[in-house]
Amino acid sequence: MSADKSGGLAGVVAGETGICTVGKAGLGLTYRGYSINDLAEHAQFEEVAFLLLHGHLPSRAELEAYSARLISQRGLPKELRTVLEQLPASAHPMDVLRTGCSALGCLEPEGPDRAALAVANRLLASFPSMLLYWHQFAQNGKRIETQSDDPSMAAHFLHLLLGQPAEAGRVAALNTSLVLYAEHEFNASTFAARVTTSTMADFYSAIGAGIGALRGPLHGGANEWAMELIQKFQSPDDAEAGVLEMLRRKELIMGFGHRVYKKCDPRTAPIKEIARKLARNEADRNLFAIGERIEAVMWREKSIFANLDFFSALAYHFSGIPTPLFTPIFVISRTSGWAAHILEQRANNRLIRPTAEYTGPEPRAFVPLAQR
Ligand code: SDX
Repeated sequence: MSADKSGGLAGVVAGETGICTVGKAGLGLTYRGYSINDLAEHAQFEEVAFLLLHGHLPSRAELEAYSARLISQRGLPKELRTVLEQLPASAHPMDVLRTGCSALGCLEPEGPDRAALAVANRLLASFPSMLLYWHQFAQNGKRIETQSDDPSMAAHFLHLLLGQPAEAGRVAALNTSLVLYAEHEFNASTFAARVTTSTMADFYSAIGAGIGALRGPLHGGANEWAMELIQKFQSPDDAEAGVLEMLRRKELIMGFGHRVYKKCDPRTAPIKEIARKLARNEADRNLFAIGERIEAVMWREKSIFANLDFFSALAYHFSGIPTPLFTPIFVISRTSGWAAHILEQRANNRLIRPTAEYTGPEPRAFVPLAQR
């Protein structure tokens, strides 16, 4: 291999972006120049989505108008509800979202009557509805109304999930998590969306490519696997013994490590504190202690830190969110980042088509079928 000796395009600069910095000295994680710490502490997810899509923080009037636009687009067309009802309860919710995205692309295609930004907002507004319409129908046989008046994406999501308005603490926690997950430069799913965009494909195809890439456990799927891991153990001591054994067998511990960050993921501290506060009873506190012990063992044994996915899993679990919905929440949030990258790619597009170093056989004579 020449340019990419370590594989996986590690360290390769694959393009330019004005949307986000990840792990740059003196900058860390920023969205459009704003520090993730400030955004996580002060911003609503809708504010961040506006920032990513438009390049500047919204004024109060802009934010009100933008939130109202998203709220008005939470309803699902009847045809889409019919599609969602056909999907089995055994389906993975990521497959449901990927299918919902495709179906909406057939019903409300991008084109002269529907601009790219309109599609971005429609998907942002309707992904929670698609996910929870299917979830409630498949799990509980209920056909829910998805056009709620809840003032934020986080409140809307939890309302549809729980069947009643969620308490403020949980809404605030989910809001912060959506902010933390919104954007992360040229991660695998964003790059997949940009590659798809570079062929001049439509918006839905690019978002669908992003969902497909995010689904795997080396990327967004890690939060679900992290939860399963934590729940396997009875106590912190049990977790320590189990993780040491996994490391001995050279197994990956999901929710740890990162391609770009080397010392820590700046999103982990805020979500860990959120998870700590959401733990309300003995069982929750035991799971949190197990998580902290796994974190300590990984640092002590391998100098590998917990990434955003690890404590997000606990924060979601303590909020009453079923594990299979964890990665779909990542989709709901990251759609804002993907959309910003699709627009940026289109603004200065050239087909993304690298070359490969050939490692196959030397040229050889074709042997007709009868002689093989
Ligand atoms: C996300 O890219 C992004 O920005 C992604 C993301 C975003 O917001 O978009 O931040 C979201 O995808 C977070 C990552 C979620 N994935 C996981 O938690 C899965 C577990 N993590 C690893 O598989 C791994 O750390 C990756 C995939 C995240 C990064 O992989 P790299 O850069 O290819 O690193 P590597 O696999 O080459 O690891 C280097 C060494 C290896 O050991 P050696 O062979 O050198 O002895 O570190 C070890 C690895 O085995 N290692 C781990 C480990 N992560 C790395 N060992 C055990 N458990 C782990 N989790």
